[in-house]
Amino acid sequence: MHDDDDGYFDERVAARYDESGEISGMFQPALVDPVVDLLVELAGRGRALELGIGTGRIALPLAQRGVPVHGIELSKAMVARLRAKPGGGDIGVTIGDFATTTVDGTFSAVYLVFNTIENLTTQAAQVACFRNVAAHLEPGGYFLIEVGIPELQRLPPGETVRAFHVSESRWGLDEYDVATQGLTSHHFEIVDGRVERVSIPFRYAWPSELDLMAQLAGMRLRDRWGGWKREPFTSDSRKHVSVWEKPSESV
Ligand SMILES: C[S@@+](CC[C@H](N)C(=O)[O-])C[C@H]1O[C@@H](n2cnc3c(N)ncnc32)[C@H](O)[C@@H]1O
Repeated sequence: MHDDDDGYFDERVAARYDESGEISGMFQPALVDPVVDLLVELAGRGRALELGIGTGRIALPLAQRGVPVHGIELSKAMVARLRAKPGGGDIGVTIGDFATTTVDGTFSAVYLVFNTIENLTTQAAQVACFRNVAAHLEPGGYFLIEVGIPELQRLPPGETVRAFHVSESRWGLDEYDVATQGLTSHHFEIVDGRVERVSIPFRYAWPSELDLMAQLAGMRLRDRWGGWKREPFTSDSRKHVSVWEKPSESV
């Protein structure tokens, strides 16, 4: 299904990533600008590290706002698309798994957007990621995550599959395995008259579990919002934007 070196975001996925229906709206200034505004504030005068930098959807406009950005990314195919964009050659990227890969120096902000924490499909890997982040943060630095709330309230009892997109030429199905906190997103699309399928496994985690991971890594929750415009986080929120802080004093 995919090139092992590049993970699930291999050449086939990378070639269509920016244009694909579920992603293209995510490049709109109305969505990107509030993300960048918040990250500029969190980074202050320091550097930012993006885990899973992809094709630079957020990193490029953040760098344009004057924040030095470095990325960690598994997929060379995704990074090739970043490199091909204006300013993409100026952003440092380390190829590797963001749960364990280290880079030189420290950062005032580390961020992991667009559900990408859930690309780590075991609890151990997610815990390792929080620890890796803490090791890269300067004291007083911030770790930001944007991730969806598992849609279990919308899954009828006994069912495991929920459609998240249905149109003439594309279908998206989320398949839940509640026992393992597993979630596989199946994407089907008609391309040149053929159905193409991409299925990507995730491990979902509730906000409280992420807080515990942060605690294990010596960080504490500073803010949790229901969206990028700092909407309140409530029982009806479909996602959360959470910021943990590495305390200034040693922990
Ligand atoms: C949904 S894309 C998000 C890309 C970008 N952050 C954005 O907002 O458009 C997830 C990215 O994370 C990368 N990725 C997934 N798991 C990873 C891992 N364990 N280590 C490094 N990169 C990973 C994928 O290759 C992909 O480029």
